[in-house]
Amino acid sequence: MDTKAVKHKPGNRRISTLNPSLLFIESYKILRSNLLSSLVAETSGNIIMVTSPNAGEGKTTVCANLAIATAQTRSEVLIIDADMRRPAQHKVFNIPNDKGLSSLLRGVAKTNNCIRKIYPCLHLLPAGPAPPNPSELLASDQIDRLLTQLGETFKYIFLDTTSIDNVADSLVLAGKPVGTLLISRYGKTTYDGISTALEKLEHSGAKLLGLVVNGKGRRKNNTRYSLLSDYEKIK
Ligand SMILES: Nc1ncnc2c1ncn2[C@@H]1O[C@H](COP(=O)(O)OP(=O)(O)OP(=O)(O)O)[C@@H](O)[C@H]1O
Ligand SMILES: [Mg+2]
Repeated sequence: MDTKAVKHKPGNRRISTLNPSLLFIESYKILRSNLLSSLVAETSGNIIMVTSPNAGEGKTTVCANLAIATAQTRSEVLIIDADMRRPAQHKVFNIPNDKGLSSLLRGVAKTNNCIRKIYPCLHLLPAGPAPPNPSELLASDQIDRLLTQLGETFKYIFLDTTSIDNVADSLVLAGKPVGTLLISRYGKTTYDGISTALEKLEHSGAKLLGLVVNGKGRRKNNTRYSLLSDYEKIK
């Protein structure tokens, strides 16, 4: 693993402030604790897949913040950007995306060269260069082997994925030994959207860990949407 810690500098998207409010921090601590209890109750292993009914509902944001909050417990945490169509985690943490998950699944790179250390206890495997066939790569035996190997190395793994509406990627992953966290966006996601997503997840054999309503209570200029980058303050 690349042990050179990457200094976090926010990219020019999705991070509105580096000084998250206490309410924001508290929300993620509560989510972390509920999620980790569901993991134990559902015995769905240590891999948490984050998806949503439609695009833009906050998967990447919630996945990054939840992973940071979990790393605060001093557990070794890995984020895998499994959205090879619209990869974003490398932008959140400002690291290159020249190699990553797609490189590993195509067998053109070694795991240790693709995983970056972001903070103490927090690591990121970016999506890597866009492959022509993301769904096939995610359905391959290689990913099963990779998840097994990484699942033994890290205490928790968070998988950022595509939304459920158009492509099969997240449903393919949902059928693997992972727990699924469904993200909805307050004021955007419809009940029908959630219900259809839940049906598709159920047919795929998903183990549902919970539903997050992202953005509820957001006020203009509020700091709820930001990255938990004030790492030392949120233990
Ligand atoms: N709680 C929130 N409050 C305000 N804006 C938010 C919130 N969550 C996400 N956003 C905004 O919505 C946009 C989409 O968020 P994000 O990239 O996390 O969603 P996504 O589901 O990963 O999108 P995609 O489907 O493209 O991967 C971001 O650019 C961000 O500006
Ligand atoms: Mg995303």
